[in-house]
Amino acid sequence: MRSFTPLRYPGGKGKLAPFVKDLFRYNNLRDGIYVEPYAGGAGVALSLLLEGYAGEIYINDIDRAVYAFWWSVLNEPEWLTEKILQTPITVGEWQEQKRIFERATTDPIPLPEIGFATFFLNRTNRSGILKAGIIGGKNQDGPFKIDARFNRHDLVARIRLIAKYAGRIHLDNRDAKDFIAEVKQKLPRRSLIYCDPPYYNKGKMLYKNCYTMEDHRDIALVMRELDCPWMVTYDNVSQICELYEGCSCEGFEIAYSAHIKRSRGEEIMFYGNLELPSSPYARKGEQCTSRAI
Ligand SMILES: C[S@@+](CC[C@H](N)C(=O)[O-])C[C@H]1O[C@@H](n2cnc3c(N)ncnc32)[C@H](O)[C@@H]1O
Repeated sequence: MRSFTPLRYPGGKGKLAPFVKDLFRYNNLRDGIYVEPYAGGAGVALSLLLEGYAGEIYINDIDRAVYAFWWSVLNEPEWLTEKILQTPITVGEWQEQKRIFERATTDPIPLPEIGFATFFLNRTNRSGILKAGIIGGKNQDGPFKIDARFNRHDLVARIRLIAKYAGRIHLDNRDAKDFIAEVKQKLPRRSLIYCDPPYYNKGKMLYKNCYTMEDHRDIALVMRELDCPWMVTYDNVSQICELYEGCSCEGFEIAYSAHIKRSRGEEIMFYGNLELPSSPYARKGEQCTSRAI
């Protein structure tokens, strides 16, 4: 399966792309609009657009650093790719990019510089986690070195390809709830909104912006009222299942396989106004009964 995103993303859902493509076929959504209010690495969105399933995509993330990266891909691709090709991948450079990244919350740093610093740390930090340490450690005495995930030419090719589609990619940097409230007004019938909010349990470790129970509840209320097809994924815990009680749901696993596997799984998807295709890895779910299944 081809990956189009240049970002490594903790909890990234790129492997759901074949499943979402099936949803597009099965629900007659082809050439429609695909929306990801918590875009992160946007792996699914990019697969759908670049492989001709979605006509346009709307991606949003509240994290200004993540937004700055996507903004640079869409608006300054030449500057960004040149910077990727020319910058040395060293511990000294890592320290410099980390300084820029940290100053970005207080100082008026231009968006492309924040975007590059975000990208640099994403590709040189352990597991792509922006607050984690450097691959190989500061002394570079680990089994993998700082450049282990920094294949410049492949990454530049991905960015150039995405930039060609800039006219069909709408980018935003807002709270998901406000973003959905606005975007839903302009969506045609053939649209799918897929929400992948911060995990209930591990969110705090992985992302700068994590969610309280109230935030999870608010977004559940918003999703359940949508008129268009929608889908939400989470870690499979009873506190979240309660919020989606009565909705269709499906347990799944994505960790170790190229496809998702329907199971009692670690993860769960809730969905509405959608039919799930009967493929080996997805079938129409039961109603969620407020217990983790
Ligand atoms: C689970 S990750 C999404 C990963 C994404 N599905 C992927 O495949 O890469 C959750 C994302 O939501 C963003 N986020 C957190 N709180 C948010 C909010 N209130 N509104 C919009 N985005 C938010 C985080 O910055 C993070 O990028």
